[in-house]
Amino acid sequence: MEFRHLGRSGLLVSEISYGNWITHGSQVEEEAATACVRAALDTGITTFDTADVYAGTKAEEVLGRALKGERREGLEIFTKVYWPTGPGRNDRGLSRKHIMESINGSLRRLQTDYVDLYQAHRYDYSTPLEETMEAFADIVHSGKAHYIGVSEWKASQIRQAHALARELRIPLVSNQPQYSMLWRVIEAEVIPTSEELGVGQIVWSPMAQGVLSGKYLPGQPPPAGSRATDEKSGAGFIASWLSEDVLTRVQRLKPLAEQAGLTMPQLAVAWVLQNPNVSSAIVGASRPEQVHDNVKAAGVKLDADLLKAIDEIVEPVTERDPAKTESPAQRP
Ligand SMILES: NC(=O)c1ccc[n+]([C@@H]2O[C@H](COP(=O)([O-])OP(=O)(O)OC[C@H]3O[C@@H](n4cnc5c(N)ncnc54)[C@H](OP(=O)(O)O)[C@@H]3O)[C@@H](O)[C@H]2O)c1
Repeated sequence: MEFRHLGRSGLLVSEISYGNWITHGSQVEEEAATACVRAALDTGITTFDTADVYAGTKAEEVLGRALKGERREGLEIFTKVYWPTGPGRNDRGLSRKHIMESINGSLRRLQTDYVDLYQAHRYDYSTPLEETMEAFADIVHSGKAHYIGVSEWKASQIRQAHALARELRIPLVSNQPQYSMLWRVIEAEVIPTSEELGVGQIVWSPMAQGVLSGKYLPGQPPPAGSRATDEKSGAGFIASWLSEDVLTRVQRLKPLAEQAGLTMPQLAVAWVLQNPNVSSAIVGASRPEQVHDNVKAAGVKLDADLLKAIDEIVEPVTERDPAKTESPAQRP
């Protein structure tokens, strides 16, 4: 495993981190979840990403149990707040009330006294940013979180929050956006602003939820046990990537991966890590073999000719519009 600084902070994170959205507490049973976390630890992953909302709060519990007994100082545990965690009108968003209640719930479920990074899962247009940042400052100053991050925030929002964080003397060090060969909307605005401010990207769905592994074949039903067959939750999320055009182009990447001596999942994960503003790629996994495959992307350098050849294949189906970095206009 290789390690990078989280933005311009002193915190080192594994280049590849393990995330448990959709899987833990939902798509996979506890045994498989624990086996994936074990595989992550065995392969040198030290950084784990979850959120209060995943699997209706069950994902944090599963991760907490799976990490129990590990040396806390050897781990970086990240969670998030914003999406609804209960039926109440205040069980969501970035109000002071919800942030304070949510961090306590997350710590209890994760069985830890602190998280290393606490992230605003989206921007909340119905709470003043000052209120949110002051609540985050109290959380950092009380020792419940060491660093603050955001997720899917626009460049202008990151800039405003970063200025407030400086005034409040707390470290806003990261943004968590979607980023892959097929989804490059952060490149035009979010990345240049983040580089200037010393904010690092912890990128999600680097494999486009499994699509860039090449296992979804055009014109054929999805493989058994894959996210696309998980009617409970995964199938709805992955659906937009399963067009014939995307799947056909992804198949054309296979010879490029072979020439580079990489598997398709490794090529996808290595691709996002070529960007120096990316601090870590968060990969998901439904089984331990996937973790063993994916971690081999750490430290891989892709040459300019290969990057150009990839661009030529995927460009027609790649999204680059910075306006696609969005948070709900109304609290969900
Ligand atoms: N901040 C946000 O708003 C946000 C949003 C989404 C995700 N995230 C974070 O990002 C993490 C990763 O997201 P993601 O799970 O969509 O990432 P991903 O790495 O793009 O997709 C992971 C899925 O791809 C399949 N896969 C993984 N490795 C494979 C391999 N070697 N061969 C074949 N298939 C493989 C597995 O699904 P199957 O085996 O089921 O096919 C796995 O669950 C989440 O857990 C979460 O922590 C954050």
